[in-house]
Amino acid sequence: MSIFTINSFDQYKESYTCSVENPTLFWDQIAQHYTWFKPYTEVSRFSMEDADFSWFNGGETNITFNCLDRHLPELSDKTAIVFEPNDPSEPHQEITYGELAKRVAELANVLLKKGVGKGDRVCIYLPMIPELAISLLACARIGAIHSVVFAGFSAGALASRIDDCSCKMVITSDGGYRGNKTIDLKAIVDEALVQCPTVETVLVVERTKEQINMTEGRDFWLKNELSTVLSECPAESMQSEDPLFILYTSGSTGKPKGMMHSTGGYMVYVGYTFQNVFQYQPSDVFWCTADIGWITGHSYILYGPLLNGATTVLFEGIPSYPDFGRFWSVIEKYKVTQFYTAPTAIRSLAKEPLSWVEKHNLSSLKIIGSVGEPINDEAWQWYFENIGKSTCPIVDTWWQTETGGILISPIPGITKLKPTYATLPLPGIQPILMNAEKELIDKNETDGSLCIKFPWPSIARTIWGDHQRYKDTYFTAFPGYYFTGDGAWRDEDGYYRITGRVDDVIIVSGHNLGTAPIEDAINEHQFVAESAIVGFPHDIKGNALYGFVTLKDGIGDFDENQLKKEINQYVSDQIGPIAKLDKIQFTSGLPKTRSGKIMRRILRKIAEGDFSSFGDISTLLNPEIVDEIKNQAL
Ligand code: WTA
Repeated sequence: MSIFTINSFDQYKESYTCSVENPTLFWDQIAQHYTWFKPYTEVSRFSMEDADFSWFNGGETNITFNCLDRHLPELSDKTAIVFEPNDPSEPHQEITYGELAKRVAELANVLLKKGVGKGDRVCIYLPMIPELAISLLACARIGAIHSVVFAGFSAGALASRIDDCSCKMVITSDGGYRGNKTIDLKAIVDEALVQCPTVETVLVVERTKEQINMTEGRDFWLKNELSTVLSECPAESMQSEDPLFILYTSGSTGKPKGMMHSTGGYMVYVGYTFQNVFQYQPSDVFWCTADIGWITGHSYILYGPLLNGATTVLFEGIPSYPDFGRFWSVIEKYKVTQFYTAPTAIRSLAKEPLSWVEKHNLSSLKIIGSVGEPINDEAWQWYFENIGKSTCPIVDTWWQTETGGILISPIPGITKLKPTYATLPLPGIQPILMNAEKELIDKNETDGSLCIKFPWPSIARTIWGDHQRYKDTYFTAFPGYYFTGDGAWRDEDGYYRITGRVDDVIIVSGHNLGTAPIEDAINEHQFVAESAIVGFPHDIKGNALYGFVTLKDGIGDFDENQLKKEINQYVSDQIGPIAKLDKIQFTSGLPKTRSGKIMRRILRKIAEGDFSSFGDISTLLNPEIVDEIKNQAL
């Protein structure tokens, strides 16, 4: 029997042991499940010290061949993608594997015709419509590297991402729908491109039919281009280590990090984890509510399901439109079997009347999942009882943009669940906890910094254009190990519970936000001298942002509320509405160490409303400021 599918706890343990004792043998067996144009000659080679990883060396493949061609002809009439539009009265679409293969080939041919080739970077800035999925696959088809930018990011954030990896092309649309709003994506692209000289071509998908500007010689309507090309495009043979995509994630300092993933290892790991974490069966209908602009969408809306020949739902809308029953009505409509969403969505729907859930038949569900941030006990129980009807296991899946796929998760129906715990590592993953002295903690019932001891196939290969930063961020805090940036608790059974970030990344509604870029945006306001952002607990968003802002001297009178609005507008323009601050407190100074470092620990406590003890503040440069900030806390 193939070891690709885990069917029992004994088999999980066997696979796990094999993956630790003989990773080469283990991953070789898993990789055999896929089609390689040329077999690999070495399973892996790595150096944790140099942050250098390569998998399936010498092998050649193409992930789209494994997502599409490999399933044809048996699955050519099977639905690959169900597209559920924002407006439920607009007809939905079911795209078969056969049709998807054709549409991917056509778009790939358009890319080639426009001079995009292997290794070129293509920025994709699209709403959640079928063309988004097709664009990623079309890039991969010809070996172009896709860089998807979430379509909620502002022009400034988009421009810096396009620029960072010198994209040659942007694929966008005239606009997008989100609930009752229309977003002018093309106008945002136009604004961004003023700063992006490398972009030669913009392909525009028609979605909203709003009036937009088209720049002659640069901008082309995709539908016109598609009518000029053939419907076949052979899959480019890619080296296993050729880059597949770049995806930006926030860092605690400086500009966003372009995490680069490569072809073979990502494919092997994401296909394997999709199969097992969701216990996929051929008749299942899988729905992950993330946006393809995030890693969850890359790996578990698109690549993971298609690698397994699954039917995947692509949802354009939001959970509250046209009403709070939308998620549940979509589950009912398509008889969704696996539903995968974020704690922030669960919390926001749990506060609405239960009748929104009860109206719908959710009996098709077998497995429900959570990702993106720690799920609190209350949300876990609500999800389990009301959505899973106390019978569907919850897979609380812990992973990161950097890890490519899920690393710690129960295997549903196989691993005994424990609410709020991501439970056990998947085969191939060796988590460890480190203490503040940088020593390995080997006992249970303890917390520590979560690190991973041994590489797995889909670990990011580098930060685009800055390998040193990759090493510094992930491989130097605990030499010899990959440092996740998260803290975790390990219980008496070796189960892991992720407690949250231990660095300056704040997760707001499941979105990672680095404090530094937000502070930079605020500091651009002419009145602002300095600012510090911390997170504080929020019922629905998990965390919300609290900004401490000091103003320049001699400003004179000003309207506080107006200034707060302006500050948030700066943040929105630079990063996007997701980074807006819930609270802004003006203060005459920020607590600093003698070396000038802002003591965020103190600000965090104040923002949380915990004034019990700030520890030793006598070493501060300006200890008196703590009382002022505390007394005026919002
Ligand atoms: C957090 C999302 C607790 C964590 C796939 C991680 C989680 C960051 C969980 C990565 C979970 C993700 N429980 N925390 N199940 N899943 N996180 O890169 O802090 O958007 O480091 O990847 O989200 O976020 P990213």
